[in-house]
Amino acid sequence: RYFLQTLGRVTLVTVVGASATFYYIAHKEKNPGLQLPFDPSKKTLVILGSGWGATSLLKGLDTSDYNTIVVSPKNFFLFTPLLPSVAVGTLNARSILQPTRYLTRHKQRQVLVIEAEAKEVDPVNKTVTLSDDSEIRGQISSTTIPYDYLVYAVGAETQTFGIPGVKEHACFMKELHDAEKMQGRFLDCVESAAFPGQSDEEKDRLLHMVVVGGGPTGIELSGELRDFLEEDLKSWYPELASRIRITLVEALPSVLPSFSKELIAYTERTFKESDIDILTKTMVRKVNEKSVVLKGPDGVEREVPCGMVVWAAGNTSRQITRDLMAKLPEDQANKRGITVDDHLRMKGTRDIFAIGDCTASSYAPTAQVASQQGSYLSRVFKLLAKKDKLEADLSHAETSEEAEKLKKQVDKVKLKPFHYSHQGSLAYIGSDKAIADLPIFGREWTSGGVATFMFWRSAYLSTLFSLRNRSLVAGDWMRVKLWGR
Ligand code: FAD
Ligand code: NAI
Repeated sequence: RYFLQTLGRVTLVTVVGASATFYYIAHKEKNPGLQLPFDPSKKTLVILGSGWGATSLLKGLDTSDYNTIVVSPKNFFLFTPLLPSVAVGTLNARSILQPTRYLTRHKQRQVLVIEAEAKEVDPVNKTVTLSDDSEIRGQISSTTIPYDYLVYAVGAETQTFGIPGVKEHACFMKELHDAEKMQGRFLDCVESAAFPGQSDEEKDRLLHMVVVGGGPTGIELSGELRDFLEEDLKSWYPELASRIRITLVEALPSVLPSFSKELIAYTERTFKESDIDILTKTMVRKVNEKSVVLKGPDGVEREVPCGMVVWAAGNTSRQITRDLMAKLPEDQANKRGITVDDHLRMKGTRDIFAIGDCTASSYAPTAQVASQQGSYLSRVFKLLAKKDKLEADLSHAETSEEAEKLKKQVDKVKLKPFHYSHQGSLAYIGSDKAIADLPIFGREWTSGGVATFMFWRSAYLSTLFSLRNRSLVAGDWMRVKLWGR
């Protein structure tokens, strides 16, 4: 009895303690303190974008050093690794969004957030022209703002290679609205197939889903679609479920070229068991309203009927990036994106830093790289603020001794080059299985299966930016287990 009483008390204290801590953190997140106003004596730092790079910079930035302005057409950060889960309804969209103001409200000095798209960067006059292109606009919807420092983190857009019909008929998987559009179209295909009197041939067409691109995005999305089919649609549409087909099309000889050979083989085996067809060495040549034209390894083109095409064929630069690079032709000639130096400064400029998917570097265009670059820049800006202050003091030095001393201090402020530390690659492949390539003690460790899936979930849960996101995502996973999608 004594043991049970003690256990009961310990449990009670733990539960009360955990609830109080949870409430305290949530309360602090919701009610930050007052912020310092803009200071005309400080330099203006303009950040373009609210994605992985920009948000990670904002998180680490000491805003008391600058007047900071964030410009992005989206007033939120999107946790892209979990976007395919939104496309099939495993997660709610709001669970993986973090409003940018939620983050900036916690900064020491206020940050101006402008929901607008940057249209032009003028590196000579140091200005950015922006415009509010949203559906609802006020009397003023376009303006030009000056900057002292610019962080360019606008990401990339989906590559279509100019293939006919992609923009008109396919769904992408890059932005939140892409996932929502895909979810709507997928369910529409199923409902249209369920329409009374539909021929078998038409049912088969409507229920054939084609995913283009065997990179991590295409693989994760195919896995999620398969889960939706197995765990929900089979019981909701028993007469149609057996007709639903998923085909993954990849131009290269294998899927997931960036993962190790064992994991590629494991993924292909898992897809085979899940009845997901993988067509490698096959190029999509055209997307029609009701079909795709494929060119197989034999070089023959054939038209395959389908209800939905999801296009996940990689990245390309945005127009604004190409325009900015065209202004610096001598230093910016890489077609893949912006060239930066070791400190992530855009080559050919003094005050523009570029990070993430908009740059061309030896690193893969991943969230991991963009977020490490963002936190690196937050440290760079701390040093730059220190250096700027010392230089200002130097210009007002009254004696030559004082000037000499300050000059020495300025010289001591040295920026270390950016160093990327790869934490490994993870991908969800459906059927409660994930794959992982992890560098452990200098060696590559590969793993795939259900345990890796648990690791995948816990890794992403801990990477989410706020307690709010973590609670919402964990709640969604529980909801799906209990009541389905
Ligand atoms: P983004 O995060 O794309 O942010 C760009 C920002 O710029 C956005 O806020 C955008 O609204 C804004 N913007 C666009 N145009 C303008 C403009 N003209 N003016 C101002 N702002 C503008 N990587 C991983 O490491 N692990 C993963 O598991 C993973 N999963 C992924 C899953 C999916 C479905 C996708 C699509 C990508 C995934 N990635 C993953 C890749 C990762 O999302 C990108 O590498 C990362 O988002 C790059 O960060 P970024 O800051 O450069 O760009
Ligand atoms: P990707 O560039 O990795 O893959 C696109 C694939 O599409 C390529 O393999 C290409 O050969 C294929 N392709 C292109 N055109 C084609 C055509 N016409 N027909 C058939 N196949 C065609 O793009 P993805 O998957 O969008 O990833 C982009 C970046 O984001 C990558 O760096 C990736 O590592 C990262 N990412 C990482 C994830 C993870 O770590 N779990 C998840 C999603 C993305």
